[in-house]
Amino acid sequence: MAINAVALAWRSAGRRAPALPSLRATQRTSILHRESLLRQVRYSSDAASQTKEAAKETTAQVTQTVKETPKKAGRKLKRTVLGTSLALTLLVGYIYGTDTRASVHRYGVVPLVRLLYPDAEDAHHFGVDILKTLYKYGLNPRERGDPDGDGSLVTEVFGYTLSNPIGISGGLDKHADIPDPLFEIGPAIVEVGGTTPLPQEGNPRPRVFRLPSQNAMINRYGLNSKGADHMAAVLEQRVRDFAYANGFGEHDLAEQRVLNGEAGVPPGSLREGKLLAVQVAKNKATPDSDIEAIKRDYVYCVDRLAKYADILVVNVSSPNTPGLRDLQAAAPLTAILKAVVGAAKSVDRKTKPFVMVKVSPDEDSDEQVSGICDAVWGSGVDGVIVGNTTNRRPDPLPQGFTLPSKEQTALKETGGYSGPQLFDRTVALVSRYRSLLDATAPTTPKVIEAQEASATTTQAEPDMENLPPVEAPSASEVLPRKVIFASGGITNGQQAKAVLNAGASIAMMYTAITYGGMGTVTRVKDELRKEQQ
Ligand SMILES: Cc1cc2nc3c(=O)[nH]c(=O)nc-3n(C[C@H](O)[C@H](O)[C@H](O)COP(=O)(O)O)c2cc1C
Repeated sequence: MAINAVALAWRSAGRRAPALPSLRATQRTSILHRESLLRQVRYSSDAASQTKEAAKETTAQVTQTVKETPKKAGRKLKRTVLGTSLALTLLVGYIYGTDTRASVHRYGVVPLVRLLYPDAEDAHHFGVDILKTLYKYGLNPRERGDPDGDGSLVTEVFGYTLSNPIGISGGLDKHADIPDPLFEIGPAIVEVGGTTPLPQEGNPRPRVFRLPSQNAMINRYGLNSKGADHMAAVLEQRVRDFAYANGFGEHDLAEQRVLNGEAGVPPGSLREGKLLAVQVAKNKATPDSDIEAIKRDYVYCVDRLAKYADILVVNVSSPNTPGLRDLQAAAPLTAILKAVVGAAKSVDRKTKPFVMVKVSPDEDSDEQVSGICDAVWGSGVDGVIVGNTTNRRPDPLPQGFTLPSKEQTALKETGGYSGPQLFDRTVALVSRYRSLLDATAPTTPKVIEAQEASATTTQAEPDMENLPPVEAPSASEVLPRKVIFASGGITNGQQAKAVLNAGASIAMMYTAITYGGMGTVTRVKDELRKEQQ
């Protein structure tokens, strides 16, 4: 515009216009200026477009950020929610899965294990291994809420006050791998073993068979054992771990202090209100006819194991070691039990373990039962476990039930039968042992003295003849009564109550646990509590 104005003025001035050169110079200057302006304009329009771009970009970024902020927050929230839900699920799963009341143990775990391990012995090994591992990491099933705490099931055994009258019988934990996880599922007594002096393989596999329709089993393990030395080492380590964890220190002295009761718990179970039983047996290779060799077998086990046991159980009733059951005849039994009692008394521990003998349900003639009772009184053992697996093949339950063909085949396998079908015989046999043991208690000088005293009292005071006669104390009132544990077919609280009423102090289970899973003891105790109401 400036340039046009200058040109117009020049035209109107004509040739007369002075200072043309300067005009040209001005013109040149203004052209340069114009270019610079144009450049500036171009530049400023470039800058403007760049700014615009930048603004656009920034706007886009802002929009993006504005858009993404809730997305990011959403993702974070999602992660938090997922993490929390996972943690909660794990926690709930842990609380549920480790509670013996959870029905998953019976209706989930047991069928699954059976499916995964068609061979019952594989399932047994898996069960022991998994329980051992879970216990190591604190993930084992256990009784929560201290159901025994109400004291309704408290029972006295061998002068101990036990939290309940339920036990787990021999063979479930053959090598003492899992006494603690077993205690945690609720029994007051866990029996480990049977162990033999030397390691032995037992019978060839397969040697354990299921009869699922009957919740029963047949086994011919044949006392497979890692040997008494192995079990002693395992139990010793257990005591040492306990001693260390409870501030007694390490090494021999700490172990001895715990074994001598300084921890205030029984030296075997290491738990208040509970007892550990250790079962011993003879090696298969030890000749049946050599009673001295057989005694040495049992005594060897006792020497190694007695200090880790609250109760020693002498197994003379496994049906799977040839000749073993013959040792239940009165004479050899008395000799063996005397040897065991003697060895148990010489254990290097403040309190000595009690000794029991586990008898068969098949040797049940009057002569056999009374021979065993004589051996019990004659040897000084403290009690009897009645009974074990049976060589008989009981009728299926319910009456008239036909077994599936697979189970009919299993039924023909050699071995000891266990499961609910044993129950009626068990309760009857407990009753017989109870009355016979009480009736055959020997008369000691103390009893005679008491009887004479009561007789003199009645004679010396004739004016008291209208009073009821003073009863002489019976032998069983003076001598400690022999203790009975019942084993065979116990699966519920009603049956537990029946064997207790028949004279047993403890109702033991094995097969019911393999079919009912880790909650079985808790369930049976609950049922027993209801029975008692
Ligand atoms: C697979 C298996 C292994 C057993 N091992 C032993 C054993 O080593 N020592 C023993 O005295 N009893 C053993 N028993 C017998 C049980 O301890 C128990 O006395 C018997 O099974 C009867 O009780 P239940 O019907 O509750 O199982 C075993 C039983 C089974 C099923």
